[in-house]
Amino acid sequence: MRLHVVDHPLVAHKLTTLRDKRTDSATFRRLADELVTLLAYEATRDVRTEQVDIETPVTPTTGVKLSHPRPLVVPILRAGLGMLDGMVRLLPTAEVGFLGMIRNEETLEASTYATRMPEDLSGRQVYVLDPMLATGGTLVAAIQELIKRGADDVTAVVLLAAPEGVEVMERELAGTPVTVVTASVDERLNENGYIVPGLGDAGDRMYG
Ligand code: PRP
Repeated sequence: MRLHVVDHPLVAHKLTTLRDKRTDSATFRRLADELVTLLAYEATRDVRTEQVDIETPVTPTTGVKLSHPRPLVVPILRAGLGMLDGMVRLLPTAEVGFLGMIRNEETLEASTYATRMPEDLSGRQVYVLDPMLATGGTLVAAIQELIKRGADDVTAVVLLAAPEGVEVMERELAGTPVTVVTASVDERLNENGYIVPGLGDAGDRMYG
C-alpha cells in the first residue's frame, strides 16, 4: 500500500477550518468539497490515459485522453457522499458506484448495508471516498470488496487518517495495488475510536 500525505498550504488551511468546532454544517460541506478537489488532483496523478491524435488550429499534434474502461468513483455513505461532487468535478466521465457502510460505535466493527456497483471491475481503476480513516475497518472491507470484484488499482481519498488505521490497512491490504491519499495523518485514535485531534464525526457535521 502506498500512502500519500498532500503537503500544500491550501489543503492545510481548509483542513484547519474543517477541524474547528465552530464551523457550521453548510461551511463544512463547502470546505470538504473544495478540499476533495485538491486531493483529487493528487489522487489522479496515475489515472490511465491513452494517446490521441488531434489538430489544433495551427497543426496536427498528439495528446492524451482518459483510457477505457472509465474509472469508477465509490463514495462510502453517508459521509463519503459529501466528497463525490469534489471528485467528479475533475473526473466528469467517471462511473459512480455506491457503498453504504456503518461502524458500530461500541465494537467499532464496520458493516455494509447497501451496495450498488458493477459486479465485474476487471481492469478498472477505482477511487474510494471516505472522509475518515480511523480504525481502518471500513476502508479495508470496502477495498477488499472492490478487489474481489476485479479492481486492479484502488485509490482511497480520505480527508484525515489515524496512524492506527494506516497500520491496519498496510497489514490487511499488503501486496494489493492500493494507494491512500490524505490531507493529514493525525496523532492517534482515542478510546472511542475518534481521530485526535481530528474533526469530530464527519457524517454528523455534514448531515447531522
Ligand atoms: C465513519 C467515517 C468512516 C468510518 C471510519 O462513518 O465516515 O466511514 O466511520 O471508521 P473506521 O476507519 O474505524 O472504520 P460512520 O460509521 O460514522 O457512518 P456515516 O458516514 O454514515 O456517519
